[in-house]
Amino acid sequence: MVVPAAATRRELLILELEGPREELEICLAQLGDLVTGALEPPAGNGGNPQLYVYLAARDRPAAEALLMTRRLSSTWRPVPKEDWEVNWRKDFEPVTVTAGITIVPDWDTTTNAPILIRIRPGLAFGTGHHATTCLAIRAIDRLGCRGARVLDLGSGSGVLAIAASLLGAARVVAVEHDPDCEGNFKDNLTFNSLPVTPRLVAGDVLEWTDFDCDLVLANINPKVVFPVLEHFSRSKSRARFIVSGLLTGDETRLKTHCRSLGLTARSLLREAEWLSAVVERRDRRPAGPATAAGEID
Ligand SMILES: C[S@@+](CC[C@H](N)C(=O)[O-])C[C@H]1O[C@@H](n2cnc3c(N)ncnc32)[C@H](O)[C@@H]1O
Repeated sequence: MVVPAAATRRELLILELEGPREELEICLAQLGDLVTGALEPPAGNGGNPQLYVYLAARDRPAAEALLMTRRLSSTWRPVPKEDWEVNWRKDFEPVTVTAGITIVPDWDTTTNAPILIRIRPGLAFGTGHHATTCLAIRAIDRLGCRGARVLDLGSGSGVLAIAASLLGAARVVAVEHDPDCEGNFKDNLTFNSLPVTPRLVAGDVLEWTDFDCDLVLANINPKVVFPVLEHFSRSKSRARFIVSGLLTGDETRLKTHCRSLGLTARSLLREAEWLSAVVERRDRRPAGPATAAGEID
């Protein structure tokens, strides 16, 4: 089960969910950006799996509307004082993303890896504990980004921007609309010794039209990423576009959407029910079998 992590000072509620694992995963994906963090409590005595989802109190009505469509039992409770920072810090373990890349909390002094990404669990999504972040980093690593001009849409903690910089990008621009992420993004830059410093732009990626780059990264839910792919296709950019944040059930929709835009989705990677893909203009793909080992498509 995934554990997206982000601490916040906003008024928070815990939504306790119980039901079939698949329903929990779908519900978590549908809650999307409303989720500030989620924890899987230790398994009980043979009961249904549970998930504790942390949400801003102001998002409760939207979450309740969504819950009406799911087969889950739910309970709301306030976040106990001190529960948040203390628990995240206690529970934050290094995440091995690839053989060469590990994400560690900024206070970790013992973990070793060829590439360490240091992240402070903070106000933003992107600690590596969510499969979608790991899939995106794996896709960057496979594709390579040495010397590339990278655009990170929905940068959250900056974890993908930092990964791109450490993997040799020549320039990284990150776009994020949530002002709560800015402090965490900037802190995380200081914990990592970066060859190039990613530049953060405050903005809505749905209005972003500048795709003059070599590689686009977007770990955002399909409601956002699909329209962004449309803007990307209209821009005639020849960049490669890594999409993450999709469910495996979105595969057909992604491929159909891409086809209708003159794009193609390939190099699909999966972890549990999550899916990432590399999207590019259909006429960009080199002739011959170009898929790397382990790719699904
Ligand atoms: C799933 S998180 C990904 C964070 C990080 N890139 C990672 O891979 O872990 C999605 C991020 O996109 C941001 N986001 C969602 N919709 C957006 C929009 N329309 N414009 C800008 N940022 C957006 C959210 O605030 C959130 O920080």
